[in-house]
Amino acid sequence: MRRKIAAGNWKMNLDLEGGKQLASEVVNMVTDEVSKDIDVILIPPFTHLTTVKSLISGSSKVKLGAQNCHEEASGAYTGEISLEMLKSVGVEYVVIGHSERREYFGEDNALLAVKTKKVLDAGLTPIFCCGEKLEVREAGKHLELNKEQVEEALFGLSKEEISKVVIAYEPVWAIGTGVTASSDQAQEMHQYIRGVIAEKYDQETADGISILYGGSVKPGNAAEIFAKPDVDGGLVGGASLKSRDFTDIAKGF
Ligand code: PGA
Repeated sequence: MRRKIAAGNWKMNLDLEGGKQLASEVVNMVTDEVSKDIDVILIPPFTHLTTVKSLISGSSKVKLGAQNCHEEASGAYTGEISLEMLKSVGVEYVVIGHSERREYFGEDNALLAVKTKKVLDAGLTPIFCCGEKLEVREAGKHLELNKEQVEEALFGLSKEEISKVVIAYEPVWAIGTGVTASSDQAQEMHQYIRGVIAEKYDQETADGISILYGGSVKPGNAAEIFAKPDVDGGLVGGASLKSRDFTDIAKGF
């Protein structure tokens, strides 16, 4: 059975004090209010990982994720962070190919294929992001584009490997804009992506993969989106910076 996940991507927000406060509040609220069947993942900036890890260590529900990694194991890559470093501070999940990484840092499907494989080799779980820009959707090419992103980044993986990947469908036009994909638009894409995976691997493998929706998820729309059969949770940006909102989203299953 695939897992239900509420992941909070803090992006480049909050200083350490703010991060401590947010993480403590989320742990308290989630412990009291969220079902044990939901995995809650906090994805703070690198500088906050160790501190957030210590704050969540008493909770079996709250896990730690990183927003990115470098694909090399070590060496002269000034400013980068390796998977071993992330592992050593208790990270379990790594976001790969967020649209902001694709857009501002030139990450392409070929690089993301390498990174995803390295995350798996390190024994961590990749949260692989795909999603189209508005002009692609308006041109009616959104299914095709997401298929291409999934194929080029993930289809070099074995069946065992891909079954460990979490996918996040994040239409770029919905990220940070306040415009959410409708629950039907999310369901259409999630079902399609699952079908693409079933065709390449098999139905059982596709059925076991958690596919999250991301893009302006809020307490007011989470329950409707999460109720769709192929939506297994959310990757939440802005609303994950408020403990009450994020916890309410995690209660939306
Ligand atoms: P948002 O961001 O919830 O602020 O739209 C989602 C994301 O980028 O993961």
